[in-house]
Amino acid sequence: MVRIRMRSLFEAISRESVEWILASSIDPARLPRHIAVIMDGNGRWARQRFMPRVAGHKAGVASVREIVESSARLGIEALTLYAFSTENWKRPALEVQTLWRLLRIYLRSELPTLQDNNVRLETIGRIEELPAAAREELERVKALTANNTGLRLTLALNYSGRAELVDAVRAIAATRLSPDLIDEHTLQSHLYTASLPEPDLLIRTSGEMRLSNFLLWQIAYTELHVSSVLWPDFRLKHLLEAILDFQSRERRFGGVAPLDEKLAEPVPVAAR
Ligand code: FPP
Repeated sequence: MVRIRMRSLFEAISRESVEWILASSIDPARLPRHIAVIMDGNGRWARQRFMPRVAGHKAGVASVREIVESSARLGIEALTLYAFSTENWKRPALEVQTLWRLLRIYLRSELPTLQDNNVRLETIGRIEELPAAAREELERVKALTANNTGLRLTLALNYSGRAELVDAVRAIAATRLSPDLIDEHTLQSHLYTASLPEPDLLIRTSGEMRLSNFLLWQIAYTELHVSSVLWPDFRLKHLLEAILDFQSRERRFGGVAPLDEKLAEPVPVAAR
């Protein structure tokens, strides 16, 4: 299955291109199941060109298109994009309005591509607080793609990791569950992302070394890849580089590397 999906990527890129060479180096059996992305640097991209900030967001939509389609072709199971945080309401009204308008344009224009690539659209965040027009378009595309079985594309909109934890705690409290029965699984199963695997790889663009309130619970053991590229310039090539970086890591989940395990002396019972 994974190999078939990677073949779909090879069909879309030209032989001997940089992308072809990078994709050939990827081990299809060790692709990250879930990639999360903090799309950052739209404003700086625009400023470098003496353009208004909204021009950066507009250019960023092209990156969203390429990364979504490429992830589907690669055979990635889930892609979560941080598109609007609960803090982003503090931005100038025109910028906020433009972001919702761009989202609607993206959803309308991309629906055929999402369908062709078997992508299912989902959202996380306090969606009920979004402007009606954006909410309606989201609900329409979510319903139309609900039966797709390929990439699960999740847009984080009006999202904050802390708000998600508050919402989860409220939902648990409403069940009147005894505190003794609350464990990590209880909390995980009340998150917006309850049905998603935890991200294996978190990409942040524009060189900033921050988590910005994104998926705080879910990224406990996620590998981080910070790219200096600004989001509007982020393309397939950079996604492939991030995956290769991910595949070079040794994931230990708090344990030890397999070789260290073999070398470890058994601890005598009395010393435990
Ligand atoms: C961060 O850059 C980016 C955002 C807050 C918005 C991301 C939105 C898009 C890429 C376009 C619309 C989204 C979809 C899903 C179609 P910034 O403005 O904080 O950049 P800066 O740090 O350089 O100012």
